[in-house]
Amino acid sequence: MKFLIINGVNLNLTGKRETSVYGTNTLEEINAYIRAYCEVGEDSVEFYQTNIEGEICNKLHEAFLEKKYDGILLNAGAYTHYSYAIRDAISAIDIPVVEVHMSNVHAREEFRKTSVLSEVCVGTVCGFGAGSYIAGLVGLCEMLAKNE
Ligand code: DQA
Repeated sequence: MKFLIINGVNLNLTGKRETSVYGTNTLEEINAYIRAYCEVGEDSVEFYQTNIEGEICNKLHEAFLEKKYDGILLNAGAYTHYSYAIRDAISAIDIPVVEVHMSNVHAREEFRKTSVLSEVCVGTVCGFGAGSYIAGLVGLCEMLAKNE
């Protein structure tokens, strides 16, 4: 399988910002952890991070048009809570997208309990730190295996 992991706004500061919420591992360390997991299953994985909303849309379009991936994990950061543009981009593509959050968004501020992306994603994982990405991959693999 080929997977793409997209991290959105402010996720580049992971390991440095709000460490009591997001932990002290950097995004590079988390990506290395995900890569190691994928290597065990002989899956390929690519990583993309941007703070720009439209760039997330561009990446989703590119993934679709170039048919490069079997599945995508998306941690859109705060865009999750209000970006109809990213929601429409997910709807536009035929690659399954899993919504991922490191923190338990349901146990935090009120605005984080709303996701405009969940409805168009195949599933959502939150609350397990870097493990949320792994859980998302497990779910995607199960789903893709059933669809084969
Ligand atoms: C986050 C949760 C979002 O509410 C927040 O804006 C983030 C990170 C998470 O991974 O827990 O930037 O997506």
